[in-house]
Amino acid sequence: MEKQILELAKRILAETEVHHVLDKAMDQLIQLSGAERGMVILFGQAGGVLFETARNLKKEDIDNPEFQVSRTIIDKVKNRGEAICLANAFDDPSLQTSISTKRLEILSVICLPLRHDSDTFGVIYLDNRLVRGMFTPQLFELVGSFAEFISLSAYHALEKTQQEQHIASLEAELRSRYQFDAIISHSPKMTEILKIVSQVANTEATVLIQGESGTGKELIARSIHYNSSRRNNSLMPINCGALPENLLESELFGHVKGAFTGANTDKAGWFEAANEGTIFLDEVSEMTPALQVKFLRVLQTGEYSPVGSREIRQVDVRVLTATNQNLQELVNAGKFRKDLYYRLNVIDIELPPLRDRKCDIPILAKHFINIFCEKYKKDELHLSRDAEACLLIYDFPGNIRELENAMQRAVALAADNIITPQHLPASISQGRPINAKAKELSTSKRRAAEQAEREFVADCLGATNGRIRKAAKMAGIDASNFHKIMKKHKIDSTAFKI
Ligand SMILES: Nc1ncnc2c1ncn2[C@@H]1O[C@H](COP(=O)(O)OP(=O)(O)OP(=O)(O)O)[C@@H](O)[C@H]1O
Ligand SMILES: [Mg+2]
Repeated sequence: MEKQILELAKRILAETEVHHVLDKAMDQLIQLSGAERGMVILFGQAGGVLFETARNLKKEDIDNPEFQVSRTIIDKVKNRGEAICLANAFDDPSLQTSISTKRLEILSVICLPLRHDSDTFGVIYLDNRLVRGMFTPQLFELVGSFAEFISLSAYHALEKTQQEQHIASLEAELRSRYQFDAIISHSPKMTEILKIVSQVANTEATVLIQGESGTGKELIARSIHYNSSRRNNSLMPINCGALPENLLESELFGHVKGAFTGANTDKAGWFEAANEGTIFLDEVSEMTPALQVKFLRVLQTGEYSPVGSREIRQVDVRVLTATNQNLQELVNAGKFRKDLYYRLNVIDIELPPLRDRKCDIPILAKHFINIFCEKYKKDELHLSRDAEACLLIYDFPGNIRELENAMQRAVALAADNIITPQHLPASISQGRPINAKAKELSTSKRRAAEQAEREFVADCLGATNGRIRKAAKMAGIDASNFHKIMKKHKIDSTAFKI
């Protein structure tokens, strides 16, 4: 007997796909027990059926009122996690109540839980309508032992399936998040940049992305990777400023056992992990001169050696880098290698600060409001004109990230369906006069507001080649008001026509 179970266990443990585990388990259970009909069911988190396999039981049989007794048994086993073996279910008075159309006399049943720790995540059901006491205590025990192996195999297969589904949904989310149309912009400067980004994405070109903090450098780097033919391989983002030199070197290139105190085993580096994918070196200006030499070698030849080894390894990685420093100035000051700079700078993308693309502020604000409304399960929220004016006046030293944080805060604080200046951080809302004492301040702020308004209208006209209706639409202002504002600032739309 034991030998027989071991043989069955071996076969069932070799299966890794849920459907295969259930099918094989079902066939073997029927064979082992002599049952007439059978079912294996796996339940989802909410208790619903996730997977099921049946033999000689069709949907009509399960929906038939006669199956009610069996359903009650299955529910009992599912809820209590204890196995049941009955010589005839119809002899058990506790199961009889619900039967109205009883035509059957006999129902021998075995029903067992599939368990992981103390959780019942599935049930095995076997029956026979012809022989009373079909399942002997010995057989019950045997099926019980086999059920333990089925539990193990089914649980791992279920976990694997769930992990695969999770990974697939994350990948789909990543892909959609880094599609070019997830990069919000109207401004002519950004439109030009995005055109270049889409042209270089699917090449092998090294790209240097420069721009102030929070201007979207990492977003651009990720979009390049996810729109390249390397998208199904890894993207390894590494912040060169976050680690001291020797640690960064061993993280980048890996190390061999004994290379330094604490290096107890060989360890692969990020370059190896990014093989056939992309490596994104953020804050590349922080690399020390010694590391710059090694990095240049990988860029030129694809070769590197792990720390503590002379062995030469080959990698195939695309390199993207970013910095919020002016790299050219660092080269001039002798702090960054000129030859490395030219290697990195094959394609140079300079992201403008938000204050130089004010026409992007309203659409970005709306974009972030929508994201956070969804996240916080709030109904649609609008930005009041006052709040929008505050955003347009403000110069956003923290750029888009600062705007994103401000919108997150505003969505969390807004009670009605409107965001007003009081929901904005003080640094932004104080852009508008709050009380009479601030008169002096208010004059200069008003001037700043006027200037912001002028720049905003001009930006919108620039983005639409001087088409007033389109520009008004982009600004979210009706055309006649837009015209009035243009007149006030003496802006001539023909100056924007190409
Ligand atoms: N054009 C855009 N459209 C939508 N979201 C954007 C855009 N640009 C930036 N963001 C968002 O703004 C935030 C900051 O962007 P990101 O992290 O790419 O900036 P960064 O330049 O790498 O900043 P830092 O220099 O501080 O590392 C991110 O949440 C990013 O998704
Ligand atoms: Mg960044």
